[in-house]
Amino acid sequence: MSVSTTSSAAAGALLKQLQQVGQTHLLRYLDALSETEARTLISQISKIDFDLVKKAHAFAIKPPSLQDVQPLPDSCVITDYRKYELEWKTEGLSQVAAGRVAAIILAGGQGTRLGYNGPKGAYNAGFPSKKSIFQFQIERLIKVRALANEALATTSATLPLYVMTSDANDSETRDFFEKNSFFGMDPADVFFFEQGMIPAVTEAEGKVILESKSCVAMSPDGNGGLFAALERSGAIADMERRGVLYTHVFAVDNPLSCPGDPMFVGCCVAKSVEAGNLCVAKARWDERVGVAALRDGKFHVVEYSELTEEMAKKSSGKNLAFGAANICNHFFTTSFLRDKVIPGMKASHHAARKAIPCVDDPAPKASNGIKLELFIFDAFPLADSYLAMQVDRESYFAPIKNASGVDSPETARQMVTDLHGGWLLRAGAQLEGTGHCEVSPLVSLSGEGLDKIVNGLKLRLPLYLGADGPVNLEQFGTNDFRITVDFSTAQDGVNHYRVVAKKPNPDVSAAAKVIMEKLAAVDISKTTPLDALFLLSELKDLASNSNL
Ligand code: UD1
Repeated sequence: MSVSTTSSAAAGALLKQLQQVGQTHLLRYLDALSETEARTLISQISKIDFDLVKKAHAFAIKPPSLQDVQPLPDSCVITDYRKYELEWKTEGLSQVAAGRVAAIILAGGQGTRLGYNGPKGAYNAGFPSKKSIFQFQIERLIKVRALANEALATTSATLPLYVMTSDANDSETRDFFEKNSFFGMDPADVFFFEQGMIPAVTEAEGKVILESKSCVAMSPDGNGGLFAALERSGAIADMERRGVLYTHVFAVDNPLSCPGDPMFVGCCVAKSVEAGNLCVAKARWDERVGVAALRDGKFHVVEYSELTEEMAKKSSGKNLAFGAANICNHFFTTSFLRDKVIPGMKASHHAARKAIPCVDDPAPKASNGIKLELFIFDAFPLADSYLAMQVDRESYFAPIKNASGVDSPETARQMVTDLHGGWLLRAGAQLEGTGHCEVSPLVSLSGEGLDKIVNGLKLRLPLYLGADGPVNLEQFGTNDFRITVDFSTAQDGVNHYRVVAKKPNPDVSAAAKVIMEKLAAVDISKTTPLDALFLLSELKDLASNSNL
């Protein structure tokens, strides 16, 4: 044995523990390892909760039967949301303005299907702006906050962001935010936390798999690892300290996700539910999406990997009976998370059968074991009140899962082009040429306000309509806005337009208000000539600082 006395003492103690849980094979190659490798392996094994692994494996290989799962009755799904959109948006914005909402991005996944090695949120899917998915989502968050301020005539709206990472991408994710200056967010409002890791096991016996002689095959514990991670990391305590009552949780892989979605959050708050699920109509019976359902009268989601073909094809009139597709976009109250989910979520892991590289075969062709994953939506049955809302796919769901074909960067770019191009056309713009089209969330969150900017203008595709200030440019525009064409960035084949507001300009109006107030407060009869001079120069400074 090449290991030191200290390591062998540790190995001896560990071996005894492993005997009790039937996992001694993990130390099988110890004699062949260097001192450093042995230490790393011993430390890795010591951190594994074998009791949890045993329970997780037992649950995963014998999941509850789907016999008592029923389609969600139509009456349980809100589909006429357009009717109440304004009311719920207003409610949602007022909650954001009061600082009661937090956004959580689920960004711990590995992006294996996409074939991208880095954090999925850092992925540039080839949109005209070349933005990463994180940037899309965070600019939307910033816009929601701005709309909340505007709606409630305040400047104090807050919408903190909690980013769940995993061991595999935590430091890269943090670096990416740093490098991009947090995409305009105050770093104090961004909280990173890591989800847990769990070993892969053999299906039959639940033996933990060795990836190599010195390393256990570990992977993130599924997006349902969120709940334990919120507690472990102090994120839930941070939310409570900030007075956050509602959380909006969503997948990183959908560039249309809108953090703090005012309409959805507003609806859940108005209806006083503990949990809410945003769905879209399932596109085909075999689309790889979970579906909303009922089990024992409780709200439930059945994952695509577990739904039987018979259930998937079952129809209800012209529609699929299990037709409300889960898009991994959820609402939870903070008290529901704290009081029911964190203490109540069991080791209810699901089995993901995978070809797992292991010591005997570094590149297996077929499935040789299971990864154990908790699913976030398994929190739903713990809720006493919930709602499901089915929204338009076109406005809400452009997932990027695969490198090509269905749910790929190309389909997402096309969906955004159709959506944003539609907004521009409805706002009165003419679009010339062909190619993709993208409007920055900082200009418009969901098409609002574009008529004031582009009505009657000719814009050339492919195009990106951004909000960043002017460069050296040709200018044209409407009464309220100037649009500039940025020739310096046009070489990449995309026409970059920048929107610059002429009015309303909140800084200008705020300064004008201060000046008006100052003037109104002046009692001419009591003002000495010297006071008048001081006042005049103060007003001039105010006016010139704010371009009045
Ligand atoms: C998920 C949903 C599925 C839904 C589909 C829609 C779950 C369990 N499944 O499936 O019902 O129809 O999205 O696109 O929610 N993640 C982590 N840590 C993990 C695993 C995943 O943070 O350990 C994150 C991913 O980064 C991603 C999200 O969870 O943001 C969804 O995970 P992914 O594995 O991509 O789920 P799907 O299989 O697509």
